[in-house]
Amino acid sequence: MELLVVSLMLLLASCGLSLDNGLMKTPPMGWLAWERFRCNVDCEADPENCISERLFMDMADRLAEDGWKELGYEYVNIDDCWAAKKRDSEGRLVADPQRFPSGIKALAKYVHSKGLKLGIYGDLGTYTCGGYPGTTLDYIELDADTFASWGVDMLKLDGCYSNSSTKALGYPLMSKALNATGRRIAFSCSWPAYEGGLPPKVNYTFLGEICNLWRNYDDIDDSWESVRKIINWYSSHQDVLQPAAGPGRWNDPDMLIIGNFGLSYEQSKAQMALWAILAAPLFMSNDLRAISMKASSILQNKLLIRINQDPLGVQGRLLLKGKNNIDVWMRELSLSTMALVFFSQRTDMPYHYTTSLSQLNITAPNVFSAQDVYSEWVQRGLDIDTKFTVTINPSGVVMLYVYPERKLKRTQG
Ligand code: GLA
Repeated sequence: MELLVVSLMLLLASCGLSLDNGLMKTPPMGWLAWERFRCNVDCEADPENCISERLFMDMADRLAEDGWKELGYEYVNIDDCWAAKKRDSEGRLVADPQRFPSGIKALAKYVHSKGLKLGIYGDLGTYTCGGYPGTTLDYIELDADTFASWGVDMLKLDGCYSNSSTKALGYPLMSKALNATGRRIAFSCSWPAYEGGLPPKVNYTFLGEICNLWRNYDDIDDSWESVRKIINWYSSHQDVLQPAAGPGRWNDPDMLIIGNFGLSYEQSKAQMALWAILAAPLFMSNDLRAISMKASSILQNKLLIRINQDPLGVQGRLLLKGKNNIDVWMRELSLSTMALVFFSQRTDMPYHYTTSLSQLNITAPNVFSAQDVYSEWVQRGLDIDTKFTVTINPSGVVMLYVYPERKLKRTQG
C-alpha cells in the first residue's frame, strides 16, 4: 500500500499538479459558520441560528451592509451539516432540502450579488466529522464538478473518517480536480491537522503547491485557554511553520472568535493582534447580526488589517519568550516596516515592559516611529537604542507598527 501511495504521488507530481488558481495572495478574510453555529440543524426550535440558507444570507447582508466587505471580509463560508444525509440518484451531494430550500446554487448567486464569495465544506472520508456524506476517493471529481457548477468559490476539505493513505491520495487529487473545473476555487486543506501538523508526516512544501491554506492544529473553541493553546503551539513549532507560509499558501490557526462569549476585551485584542502577526486567514465565526461595537472595532481596525494583509506575505515569529511571561512577536512587513506584539500571559496586573529594538536584536532604519495599533498613540524619533516602555494588561497585548521616518526635505524660501 505504502508503495502504491508513493508511486501515485509521484505520478500526480509529474502531471503538473500545482493548484494554479492565483488566489489568496494575501490571507483570506471572511466569515465561517462553524465555531459559533456548529451543527445546529434544529430550524424548528431555533430558526435564526440553525445551519440554513437564511443564516448565510443574513451574514452576507451584514458583511455587505456593515462595512466588513470594504475592509476585505469577502468570504461567506458554510461549514459542516449543510448537506442532506444522502446523495441524489446520480450520486451528487445535495443540500438539505428543508434548510436550504433554494439550493446552494441560488445561495451562491445571492452571495455574489452582494459582491461576496461563497465557501463550502466537504470531508475526504466516508462521512464528514458531523456524520454527513463524505467525499471518498471515487467521488472527488464529481464533488469538485458539483461545487463548481454551483458557483462555489472556496472549499474546506476536512479529514474525518479516513486514513493517512487516503488523505495522501485524496488531497492532491481534489486540488487537481478543482483546477480541472476551470473555476477558480480556493482550497483549504485540513490534512496536516490530522497528521500532527509536523514533518516528517507533513510536507509543507508540497502542501503549498496544492492548497491555499491549511489547518495545522486543533479546533478553536470559545475560550481563552483554546486561543493560548493554539498560539503556544504555533510558536513552539515556528521554525517549521513560518517558512511554509507565503502569498497563496497560509497556515490557518482557525477562526476568530471575537464577538462571542469566551474572550474578554483584552483577550479579543490579543487574538486579533496575534492572528495578524501570524499572517493568518481572518475568518470570523460570530454573530454579525448582534455583535458589539467593541468587538467590531477590533475586527475592523484598519491598520491591523493592513498588517495582516501585508503584500510581502511573511509570517511573523516569536522573538522572545520572556521569563516574565511577556512574549515578544515580530512580523516583517513591506517597505521596511514591521509589526511588534508584546503579549502578556500574566494574570496579575498591567506590566511595564522597557526595551529597545537593539535589545530585541532587531535591525531597523536609523530613525523610526512606533504607532500603537489600538490606541493610535505615536512615538517619533526613536533609534534602535532608544528605550521605550509599553504597559501590557494581563492576557492582553500592545501592538506597535514601526516605520522609518522620512527625511523631510527643506524647501527654500
Ligand atoms: C472538524 C474541523 C472543524 C469543523 C468540524 C465540523 O472538527 O476541524 O473546523 O469543520 O470538523 O464537523
